[in-house]
Amino acid sequence: MSTLLVIHHTPSPYCQEMFEAVIAGATDPEIEGVDVVRRAALSVTASDVLGADGYVLGSPANLGYVSGALKHAFDTFYYPCLDSTSGRPFGLYLHGNEGTEGAERAVDSITAGLGWVKATPHVVVSGKPTKDLIEECWNLGATVAAGLMDA
Ligand SMILES: Cc1cc2nc3c(=O)[nH]c(=O)nc-3n(C[C@H](O)[C@H](O)[C@H](O)COP(=O)(O)O)c2cc1C
Repeated sequence: MSTLLVIHHTPSPYCQEMFEAVIAGATDPEIEGVDVVRRAALSVTASDVLGADGYVLGSPANLGYVSGALKHAFDTFYYPCLDSTSGRPFGLYLHGNEGTEGAERAVDSITAGLGWVKATPHVVVSGKPTKDLIEECWNLGATVAAGLMDA
């Protein structure tokens, strides 16, 4: 059994819609042998991260960066996990209203430092998520989870 860890900060209904679509994709019945674990970014531990085989990160953009909650998560697990999680796949979804580039750049830079491998294109939504963008969130969850089958 593999484990997909979804580390998310979900402070609003639009973020919740994206989160739920990611979880729905990741837990699709056709994907077997993958346990999907969700952790609020403010509660995730280094053990959670070490115990997983792949990751989905989800956050709003705040003040030109990732949310303080996701930043706190990285601050918590970056060094404890640096030696052991390199090469693991990840996906990212972001929500913002006025510019998400800084948040995306930050995650790219931090995950590059960790040696994590981007498993699928990031999903970035501004304002109300359209049906197509919610479907992209579903695909993001499904793609990262499916990649962990038999891992
Ligand atoms: C303090 C604060 C800073 C924010 N900074 C940004 C930002 O830099 N870029 C951006 O795209 N959205 C920014 N936002 C908007 C949030 O990303 C947005 O509120 C969040 O994704 C939830 O979406 P909603 O408020 O439309 O439901 C900010 C929101 C707050 C409260």
